[in-house]
Amino acid sequence: MRLTKIKGQILKILKKEKGIVSGEALSSEIGISRVSIWKHIRKLQELGYNIAVNTKGYQLIDSPDALFPWEFPERESKIHFFPEVTSTMDIAQKLARNGCPHFTVVIAGRQKNGRGRLKRPWQSSEGGLYFTIVLRPQIPPLLSLRLNFAASLVLAQLLRRMYCVNAMVKWPNDILINKRKISGILSEIVAESDIASFINIGFGINVNNDPTEEEPSATSLRSITGKKISRKQLLAEFLDEFENYINHTDIDKIIPEWKNYTTTLNRHVKIVTNQDTSEGTAVDVDENGELILQLADGSIKKIVYGDCFHI
Ligand code: BTN
Repeated sequence: MRLTKIKGQILKILKKEKGIVSGEALSSEIGISRVSIWKHIRKLQELGYNIAVNTKGYQLIDSPDALFPWEFPERESKIHFFPEVTSTMDIAQKLARNGCPHFTVVIAGRQKNGRGRLKRPWQSSEGGLYFTIVLRPQIPPLLSLRLNFAASLVLAQLLRRMYCVNAMVKWPNDILINKRKISGILSEIVAESDIASFINIGFGINVNNDPTEEEPSATSLRSITGKKISRKQLLAEFLDEFENYINHTDIDKIIPEWKNYTTTLNRHVKIVTNQDTSEGTAVDVDENGELILQLADGSIKKIVYGDCFHI
C-alpha cells in the first residue's frame, strides 16, 4: 500500500469520527500495526496537521491548507505535490514524456523558476496556487489549443461562483478581476504526427500571496475578498469542473462560450510579440483562438500569440 494512501485513510477516519479514535481502531480498520499508525500520525503532525494525542487515541483538531495528494482522495494517484520545484511545467513535461496518464496534476507550494508566457518569469511565492495539468486529448494540435480557452473559461466561471467576483478573461487566457490580473495560463504542446501526444496547461493563481511590486497590475483573491482563501477547496473544485467540462463539452462550443466572458473584444488593444507591436480594434476571436484585429487603415490582421494591452 502506498504510504500516502495510508495518511489519506487515517485523515479520512479522523475527519469522519470527529472525536477521539483509538490507535487500535485505526490499526484494525487500515490493517497496519499501531506503531505504524503512530509514525504516520507523527509525520502528519510535522506536515502541519493538528492532531491531539492522548492515552485514548487521536483526534484531528485542524488541517492545514495543504495540497498533498491525499487531500484529493478521488484523484490521489494522479496528483504530484512538491513543496518547491523549479517549475511545475518542467516536472509535468518529464512525467508526460514518461507516459503519465491523462489528467495527471503537478502542484508546487512555490516555484524557483516559474515561467510565464513570452518567456517571462512568473513570481511564485508561498500562498499562491501553481499547478500544471497533463492532458492527452487525442486531437490535432490546433484543436487542442482550444483547451486553453476552456481552462480560462472554467476558471473565470468558478471564481465568480465561489467568491462572487466579476472575473473576466483577457485574450488569450489571463483572468482579471476589477481590471487586475489574478491568474495566468501557460501551455506547452508536444505532437507526434498529426495528433497532440500531450498538452500541459500550467495555472498560476494569486490566492493568498502578495504580488510583487514588479507586477503592479496584479492582485490576489485574498486582497479582493478580504479573506484568506482555501487553496485546497479552490483546486479541488477547479479540477472537478475542468475535467467535467472537457469530457462533456463539444469542442466547437468552447470559444463561443469563452467570448461571453472576455473583456478584450470591441475595444482598442495593443498586441506586443517578440517580433512586433500591433494596435487596433479587437473585433473577434476565431475558432482557433486567434485574435482578429482591425487596424487603423481598416485592414484585418490575425494575431496568433502576444501580450494584449487594453488601451
Ligand atoms: C502568464 O504569463 O500569464 C502565464 C503564467 C503561468 C504560470 C504558471 S504557475 C504553474 C505553471 N508553472 C510555471 O512555471 N508556469 C505555470
